[in-house]
Amino acid sequence: MRQVIPASIREDYVYWKTYMHEHVDFSHGASVIHTKAHCERVLLYALILARKLKLTEAETTSLCHAAVYHDSRRHDDWLDVGHGKRAAEYYRQACQAEALPFYRLAYDVMAWHDHADEEGLAVIREHAASPHAGLVYQAFKDADALDRFRLGPDGLDVRYLRSEAARQLYDYAHAVWTDGLEEG
Ligand SMILES: [Fe+2]
Ligand SMILES: [Fe+2]
Repeated sequence: MRQVIPASIREDYVYWKTYMHEHVDFSHGASVIHTKAHCERVLLYALILARKLKLTEAETTSLCHAAVYHDSRRHDDWLDVGHGKRAAEYYRQACQAEALPFYRLAYDVMAWHDHADEEGLAVIREHAASPHAGLVYQAFKDADALDRFRLGPDGLDVRYLRSEAARQLYDYAHAVWTDGLEEG
């Protein structure tokens, strides 16, 4: 049975999913791992985590921007460290070209999502675009990790999730991968 999109996030989920399909170009279009479908699920988990963690509207929007742009500038499906920074630059340019409000927090989350937490946290807390900047960064990395079931049945080790809120999503994310998600 297809999994349900929580009613509290449905509107935002549909808005940013549609935005991605209409406005975001993925340079590694042949990828079967880092697809727009992957980014849709990251968006879903990011929005659920934002509600659970009681993030502000600006922090939640930053997560949505990061979800739909973060893997758009990959060169390959391996670690490809640096794809986060390239995606962040693409996002910055897109904000100017399409009158999308630019969020520094979204930029930083994207630019550092392919680095170790300690590195990303140090930079993001220095910019301090939000009092919860570190929490937002780690929520994004957990949302990205919750889609690791696509890499195999053991793709996600729950011990690597950073918050209890994310650990509570383990079963849901597994079911979304195996059963699919209702049409949003
Ligand atoms: Fe990535
Ligand atoms: Fe990703």
